[in-house]
Amino acid sequence: MNESTPARPVVFSAAQPTGQLTIGNYFGALRNWVALQEGRECLFCVVDLHALTVRQDPKVFREWIADLAALYLACGIDPEQSAVFIQSHVPAHAELAWMLSTFTQVGELERMTQFKDKAQRHKTNVNAGLFTYPVLMAADILLYGTHQVPVGDDQKQHLELTRDIANRFNGIHGPVLQVPEPIIAKGAARVRDLQDPTKKMSKTAASELARVMILDDPKLILKKFKKAVTDSLGEIRYDNENQPGVANLLEIWCAATGNDMDAALSHFSHNMYGKLKVETAEAVIALLEPVQSRFKQWREDEPALAKVLAAGAEQARGRAEVTMGKVHDALGLMVESGRFE
Ligand code: TYM
Repeated sequence: MNESTPARPVVFSAAQPTGQLTIGNYFGALRNWVALQEGRECLFCVVDLHALTVRQDPKVFREWIADLAALYLACGIDPEQSAVFIQSHVPAHAELAWMLSTFTQVGELERMTQFKDKAQRHKTNVNAGLFTYPVLMAADILLYGTHQVPVGDDQKQHLELTRDIANRFNGIHGPVLQVPEPIIAKGAARVRDLQDPTKKMSKTAASELARVMILDDPKLILKKFKKAVTDSLGEIRYDNENQPGVANLLEIWCAATGNDMDAALSHFSHNMYGKLKVETAEAVIALLEPVQSRFKQWREDEPALAKVLAAGAEQARGRAEVTMGKVHDALGLMVESGRFE
């Protein structure tokens, strides 16, 4: 916590409903959100508008949005403590994004590695939304006066841009926007692809074997770990450069069991890769089992889920209105009578 962090900081984070979540999302983000709930004002959002930057099938998309909200709750987000809501239920996200886009330089957006990567992968649909995606992300965060943003390593650059946008706005218009701090997970901030351990594990990876989903069946989890790519050195050491596959498995084992790397190395040294793979799978399966059964309960009770989301959106809209009032005022926009009172 830095000096400007208050006693009860505001925490905001989000994930895209672009398919099921991986254990990368779990270790890099969701598990840490749960841990942060105590003593903070938390908002956890399903960012459906972000997901529109890639073409979605409306029927499937609707299911993914509900799945993701249910998964937040299954992972341990407590709706009594935290607001869980859908981005498109709070129109101010898009409104603030427009305003912030006028404080963002085209050159800054061109430098975003995630944009370059996605533009490469979706060559036939490099739409303007994909380009301005980080501005919408900045709006998500700045809308709530957020102090802390728990994310995986891959979101660092977007967080830096968010801070730059907030500082630029404040530099021109005075201290209106809270400048947020990232909280990057310790240990498994970048879980890697099981088939190509030089890449991060992604929910949209082409090969199914490359990613372990939070909701995967235990047998499938075991199969995926057994087939994980390692190397031919035959020795268990933590060497990211030369043994990225083994290093990834060790990191996942640590994240799943709560052990540190020294403990992992003394536990596995003098063993073969097979034992590392199986024990990592077993630790992940044990960790995910309760999440999977809670997910089923939430997903089967649609009225309960809808109630949580409606309450979350209402809370979020109330908070958003406070910031929007300040932003409108700072920019010199004329306020319609009755709005922001
Ligand atoms: P998304 O949906 O790709 O991922 C959600 C969260 O999971 C983390 N993550 C990982 N952590 C460790 N290892 C991995 N392999 C891995 N893959 C993903 C991500 O860092 C993220 O924390 N742009 C964001 C969504 C977003 C957002 C926001 C996040 C929109 N607005 C505001 C925070 C605040 C995204 O695409 O995350």
